[in-house]
Order: sequence, then C-alpha cells, then structure tokens
Amino acid sequence: NYYAILMAGGVGSRFWPVSTTEFPKQFHDMLGTGETLIQRTFERLAKIVPAENIFILTNERYNDLVLEQLPKIEQRQVVTEPAMRNTAPCILYAAMKIEKENPDAVMVVAPSDHWIEDEDAFVSNLKDCFVACSQKDILMTLGIKPTFPNTGYGYIQYLEESDPIKEVTQFTEKPNYDTAKVFLSEGNYLWNAGIFIWSVSSIIKAFEVFQEEMTALFRKGESLYNTENEKNFIADNYALAENISIDYAIIEKAKNVYVLPAVFDWNDLGTWGSLYDKLDKTDDKNAIVNTRVLPQDASGNMIRTANNKIVVVDGLQDYIIVDKEDVLLIYPKKKEQDIKEVLKKVKETY
Ligand code: GDD
Ligand code: MG
Repeated sequence: NYYAILMAGGVGSRFWPVSTTEFPKQFHDMLGTGETLIQRTFERLAKIVPAENIFILTNERYNDLVLEQLPKIEQRQVVTEPAMRNTAPCILYAAMKIEKENPDAVMVVAPSDHWIEDEDAFVSNLKDCFVACSQKDILMTLGIKPTFPNTGYGYIQYLEESDPIKEVTQFTEKPNYDTAKVFLSEGNYLWNAGIFIWSVSSIIKAFEVFQEEMTALFRKGESLYNTENEKNFIADNYALAENISIDYAIIEKAKNVYVLPAVFDWNDLGTWGSLYDKLDKTDDKNAIVNTRVLPQDASGNMIRTANNKIVVVDGLQDYIIVDKEDVLLIYPKKKEQDIKEVLKKVKETY
C-alpha cells in the first residue's frame, strides 16, 4: 500500500543559468555524480516504495524529460499539470487519483531536488512514518534541526514529551526574520523538510475541511480520473484551482499534524551556496563541477562549466562562476538570493 509522489514542477530560478524554465534544476546533474536530482530522488524512494507506485507530478512541458530520465516509469505515472498552481492542487489531484487505484494507500510526498546523504537513515525514518500513518488519521512531516533563522522554511513547534513521533503544536510557514530568530532561541522548533507522509484518506479529509472549494473542483472530475477523459477535464479545470502551497493550505491549519525528527543530513539545494556547502572542496576550498581549475589565489568559489572546461581564476574569493553555452555568471555568493531578480532583468533586456 506504499505510494510516493515526487514533486517536480518548480523552476529553481536561483540556480540560473544552469536551471532554466525549459530545463529546471531537478533534471540536471547538479552534484556532478552522473545522476540528475530527480533520478537520485527516484532511486532513494524506490528503496521503500515499489517503482510502479511512484508518481511524478510536473508541468506538461516536462513530461518527455521525465520519461527520458526515468526509464522505469510509464506514462500513467507522470501526472501533468497544465498550469503552475503551487503544491496544494497537484497533491490533492494526485491523492484522488491514487485513492481511486487503492483506497488504503499511504503515501509520501517528496520534492525532487533535495540532497540527502544517508539514504538508509532516510528509508528507516520513512518506514516509521508509513507505519504510523497506516494506523492513525494523522498528517506527518519530517523535521530538521534548525541551525540559523532561515526565512525560506516552515517552522514546526512540537511537544517535547511525545516520543519519537512528536505532536505538532504550531506550524508557521516562512516566518519573518525576527520571528524565526525567536523560534530558534526557544528550542522546540524544527524546520519542515517538505517531505510529508499520510494516508490518501487522511489528506483528502483534511482538504475537505480546510480547502472546500478546491476539493469540490477536483471532485467534479473524479469519475474521470485514471480514464481517457481525465486529460480534458484537467485541461479545462486545473487552472481554476487556487495558487497555494500545501504548507499554507493544509499544514498550518490542520490539528492532526505530527513530526518525526529526521536522523539524516538534509539540504534543500536551493542556491549555489547551499550546493557549495555540500560538495567536496579542493585543497584551496573551491567546489568544482565539470571543471578543471588551476590552483591560484582563489578560494570559497563555486565553479561549474559545461564540457569540463579549464578555468583559471586568480584573486577571487567566495564567488559563483557558472558557464553555459550562452551565459557566463560571475556573482558574489553572498548575494546569491538576488539571482532570481537578475534573471528577470536579463529576460527584460535580452
Ligand atoms: N508538480 C509541481 N507543481 N511541483 C511544484 C510546484 C507545482 O506547481 N511548485 C513547486 N513544486 C515543487 C518544487 O519543484 C519543489 O520540489 C517542491 O515542490 C517544493 O516547492 P518549493 O517552491 O521549493 O517550496 P519552498 O522551498 O518554498 O518551501 C517548501 O519546502 C521547504 C523545504 O525545502 C515548504 O514545504 C517549506 O515549509 C519547507 O521548509
Ligand atoms: Mg524549495
């Protein structure tokens, strides 16, 4: 009864110029291991979920990319969205499809672009969650010990006593900096890893309570799901769903949320700097992918080229140096969050 849905609809614009709307980061070998992020995520999940029960949720335009990169899956496992509506609509839609196939299904929802080193620890955590969610009407998430007031994450306040699966007293998605600082000093908070586990019946029930309109919308097409006529219904109706993430739509509101503190190292690979942190460094502390670099007075740089180019850098510290056929980015790591805006400007100008 174990199922997985892999969310692969994001664009990863802070990884420009490698990640683009045509070819987002989850389809790239960001770590230089020979596998793309979505391939690694798939293999990780396939250690506990049968391959035929893994569904990929993504925008229509990436359908062929998914099939090309994951030869083990069939077309029916690629659930495509005609419009970008964030994670709540696609999760509800997929849950309804899976419920039709197997009403007893318990599923994990996972992003396709994270870094997890210890796969055995991940699988063991996941197994505990699957078991708990098979037995109880609860919504589970994996929690990560926070290290700094990152405002891009969800914060989970939990009851210390309960063990090892902890009751969540409050979930706050993307707090402002000051609030995040307070959470961190209070101690009983975890970051939301964005990996959720629940039974299809529990999540659909939660949608019924907290997202009435969205649930009614997707119920209208339910009799067509997993049939030939599904596509037409989705083409006509999907864009009518509210653009909202699962965190705001359900997790902040539900009263039956539980967290399992993760025992594995985790990184959401959101920026070039977070990738730098995870990669092995050269002796002079540069992280290099697909590149040969001459040792010079340069350190702390994240360097990546197309085609294993030779790069000579001298006198540059803590920069992102990324080369593609048509773009060369040389940008300070400390301003990496601005790359999204830079990309907008580039698009306006050229
Ligand atoms: N299929 C599909 N459709 N996938 C999507 C869509 C969509 O419209 N939008 C986003 N995704 C995918 C992204 O590719 C990513 O894998 C995942 O869903 C999460 O979306 P993000 O946009 O990366 O979310 P976030 O980073 O702002 O926040 C979430 O993740 C954090 C941890 O990385 C939240 O769950 C936070 O609470 C959490 O801390
Ligand atoms: Mg993210």
